[in-house]
Amino acid sequence: MPELTEEVADARPAPSGEPILEVRGLVKHFPLTQGVLFKKQVGAVKAVDGVDFALTAGETLGIVGESGCGKSTVAKMLVNLERPTAGEIRYKGEDITRLSGRALKAVRRNIQMVFQDPYTSLNPRMTVGDIIGEPYEIHPEVAPKGDRRRKVQELLDVVGLNPEYINRYPHQFSGGQRQRIGIARGLALRPEIIVADEPVSALDVSVQAQVINLLDKLQNEFDLSYVFIAHDLSIVRHISDRVGVMYLGRLAEIGTDEQIYEHPTHPYTQALLSAVPVPDPEARERRERIILTGDVPSPANPPSGCRFRTRCWKAQERCELEVPELAVPAEFRTADGPEAHPSACHFAEERHVVG
Ligand SMILES: Nc1ncnc2c1ncn2[C@@H]1O[C@H](COP(=O)(O)OP(=O)(O)OP(=O)(O)O)[C@@H](O)[C@H]1O
Ligand code: SF4
Ligand SMILES: [Mg+2]
Repeated sequence: MPELTEEVADARPAPSGEPILEVRGLVKHFPLTQGVLFKKQVGAVKAVDGVDFALTAGETLGIVGESGCGKSTVAKMLVNLERPTAGEIRYKGEDITRLSGRALKAVRRNIQMVFQDPYTSLNPRMTVGDIIGEPYEIHPEVAPKGDRRRKVQELLDVVGLNPEYINRYPHQFSGGQRQRIGIARGLALRPEIIVADEPVSALDVSVQAQVINLLDKLQNEFDLSYVFIAHDLSIVRHISDRVGVMYLGRLAEIGTDEQIYEHPTHPYTQALLSAVPVPDPEARERRERIILTGDVPSPANPPSGCRFRTRCWKAQERCELEVPELAVPAEFRTADGPEAHPSACHFAEERHVVG
């Protein structure tokens, strides 16, 4: 993806400070039922099965992983579109999974979502003004009725669209412009956190960089913290301060972008990185390709021990028996180098894959 790597400004230094959002032991199991009249639970799709991470105010945490690994389910739990089966989501120290009523509504205002597909996520029968202003129906305190048109026009301007387009319909816009409308709607309530679920995956490569640059600009302008979900490691690198790699409902590895891209220690991250397009032909020559064999197992019946073991070239008996914790591997704990970051592998070792 050369266009993107060339056009997008590189990542900023990671902000430090208090976490604005903390996720602990997050689990979502969807029941599998049988029978029509008398539904009987026969199992569960373990879409998310024990995820921990923290988001610092002002930072961007990228979450990557193959289709079906549970990224969208994590996103939906963060914005309360799905209720966790277990675990905590702490916003400024408070577990929001236990809130209801007014308290929940107040917190939800601060955590907004931008969806993947700008073609289906905008109601085709509503004008752009009504789409962007819809959150004000639920939170009239943010914009009284008489002030909404002006506020929506301001938002259109902020996301780089002509404020005069306020009465147009979604079909009159291109994909990139529609995603700008989705971003404007996400901003309407002036949230602190935006969870963006594959916000550029449905767009042409040439448009992806523009939308990512817009998100970058808005982050500075509005002091936003982002959870940025993608299946493509190359997109995430340029916007993220830190990156978490998911596999089959759990995090395999998490660290700063330098730690993950230059010093990966989990075999799954190494395999994903080895498949990232490399624009420079010489670097491409030098780069190792790690081809994973086999399919991702079903989340209804994940492998025992390490979930990655059925596709891992390093798997041993221990991997079948013992679940690897997401922690800094013991052999790196005394070192202070970039390899010392959490990796859920019994045999974590650094392997330089790219460039
Ligand atoms: N409402 C649901 N009921 C049952 N299973 C579900 C439900 N939502 C998601 N799943 C399953 O949970 C798993 C994780 O799905 P999820 O959508 O979170 O993955 P994802 O990482 O976002 O994938 P993609 O990259 O394709 O968007 C998948 O196996 C999916 O089929
Ligand atoms: S724990 Fe074992 S199976 Fe899992 S990634 Fe590490 S070596 Fe591979
Ligand atoms: Mg998804």
